Amino acid sequence: MSVNLRDYIASVPDFPEKGVTFRDISPLMADGVAYAQATDEIAAYAKKLGVEMIVGPEARGFIVGCPVAYKMGIGFAPARKKGKLPRPTVSASYGLEYGQSTLYLHQDAIKPGQRVLVTDDLLATGGTIAATIELVEALGGIVVGTAFLIELKDLKGRDKIKNYDMLALMDF
Ligand code: PRP
Ligand code: ADE
Repeated sequence: MSVNLRDYIASVPDFPEKGVTFRDISPLMADGVAYAQATDEIAAYAKKLGVEMIVGPEARGFIVGCPVAYKMGIGFAPARKKGKLPRPTVSASYGLEYGQSTLYLHQDAIKPGQRVLVTDDLLATGGTIAATIELVEALGGIVVGTAFLIELKDLKGRDKIKNYDMLALMDF
């Protein structure tokens, strides 16, 4: 029997700033059944696409991507914020719903031609996922899909990644 994943998202008004409703995934992560169900649904999607490697942006992209990689028996590469990766990197800058940032990926994180799934907890404006895709492609990886727990429909992030296959388990 499956659970309704929406029941495990906490909506917090005016966080981190006025006017933003923060969609908090920590109740989902705190529940073993809901977390496993979300992981299994994304792993089934990834298997269908023949995914060989998963890349997720810091920090919440790790929460979604790592258990999927473990379930599939494949690797995970972290796209990290400034000053975190110790070896040579590629980088991409992007705008956020609230702010501006740069992501980095180790240059040897992806083998050219590798079939990659990019994961994150949430698609808002699409800046983070577009930057992560840019990093994978800079290394010659093929982004065969993108997977999220949540899509925020009003922010139209989907338009930024319209050339890529996409799975979102919920939308708000
Ligand atoms: C949040 C979220 C996504 C991104 C979505 O991360 O986890 O990565 O914003 O927004 P976008 O579609 O407009 O780019 P955040 O940058 O807040 O970092 P965190 O995961 O470290 O909290
Ligand atoms: N990242 C960007 N926008 C967000 C939101 N509204 N809730 C949670 N994480 C976010």
